[in-house]
Amino acid sequence: MPTASIIGCSGYTGQETLDRVLAHPELELVALGSDSLAGQLASALDIRLNGSLPAFVANAEALASGADVLFVCLGHDEAAALEPPADTVVVDLSGAHRLRDSALYDSWYGFTHPRAETLAGWSYALPELYPPTGTLIANPGCYATAVLLALGPLADSLDPESVVVDAKSGVSGAGRAPKPSSHAGFVLENLSPYRAGSHQHAPELEQALGFPVCFVPHLLPLRRGLLATCYARAGNDAHERLEDAYADSDVVRMLPEGMAPELGRVQGTDTAEVALFEDRPTGKTIVACAIDNLGKGAAGQAVQNANLALGLEETAGLRLTGVLV
Ligand SMILES: NC(=O)c1ccc[n+]([C@@H]2O[C@H](COP(=O)([O-])OP(=O)(O)OC[C@H]3O[C@@H](n4cnc5c(N)ncnc54)[C@H](OP(=O)(O)O)[C@@H]3O)[C@@H](O)[C@H]2O)c1
Repeated sequence: MPTASIIGCSGYTGQETLDRVLAHPELELVALGSDSLAGQLASALDIRLNGSLPAFVANAEALASGADVLFVCLGHDEAAALEPPADTVVVDLSGAHRLRDSALYDSWYGFTHPRAETLAGWSYALPELYPPTGTLIANPGCYATAVLLALGPLADSLDPESVVVDAKSGVSGAGRAPKPSSHAGFVLENLSPYRAGSHQHAPELEQALGFPVCFVPHLLPLRRGLLATCYARAGNDAHERLEDAYADSDVVRMLPEGMAPELGRVQGTDTAEVALFEDRPTGKTIVACAIDNLGKGAAGQAVQNANLALGLEETAGLRLTGVLV
């Protein structure tokens, strides 16, 4: 059975990745890395974790555990500095290896990439559109995942200048570490755009689609869930293209005409919902995609990518079923 290690496990994406690995029928967890919890039992992260799990070790120790697959759930700059272990499938959930042009890290992430010469060795992988190649996998950003699921299959038929993306995410998108912008007193019963025109997922959208998009994220007063509504001039075959792209997918649901994606149906899952509408007054195409930022937007997609790289069943360990209200 392939073995798995997670580093940065105490963060939101680390914990959600652990949840998928524990549900996985073909992965054996061998190391739980966390610098803040090193030396403590797994139950220090969550009381639902029992004594059969390995205790936390420092991230450097988990990195060197010799696992077949390593999930990196660290901040961007920490992940950028890592030397990936040889002969290991590494899935990086941060943005540290998504961009091919290293200069973009200075301008969009605020740091100079410490291992710029290694970026070409990573594959930017969104399984339904760009499956992973090789063993070093850059998991797409949560907003980028939703936008690319909506627009990726249409990219060569869009008028690039017409594309506008309005996207909204719950507060878990900002991670577990407390900050003023995720404080309940600011978030609850409030709605606000942030990093309008300057969010770090913009360059990965440009890299994947081949043209820049006008992209405005908003913070929703919810714990989890992400909705991207994309407006564009598209060809007449847009609906057919999206249906074709997701016809065989167990993860992405193309909704029937007239039905809208809902966060409530994807929250807590690794699924995505996509729907297309025509704007009657302008003839523009509207494509909306709903995902859970921690599911298809992070941990679910990371395990899906790892499954493909390891030759396992693509959806093993993912949360795909259920009809919870
Ligand atoms: N949140 C999302 O929806 C999402 C989606 C896609 C991608 N990502 C990316 O995935 C990476 C990890 O994101 P995340 O949401 O998991 O971030 P996070 O919750 O802030 O955790 C990041 C790291 O901070 C440490 N940490 C955990 N709790 C902490 C606390 N209370 N105070 C200070 N540090 C703490 C953990 O390291 P140790 O365990 O080693 O202490 C963890 O690796 C980021 O690069 C992010 O951009 C996030």
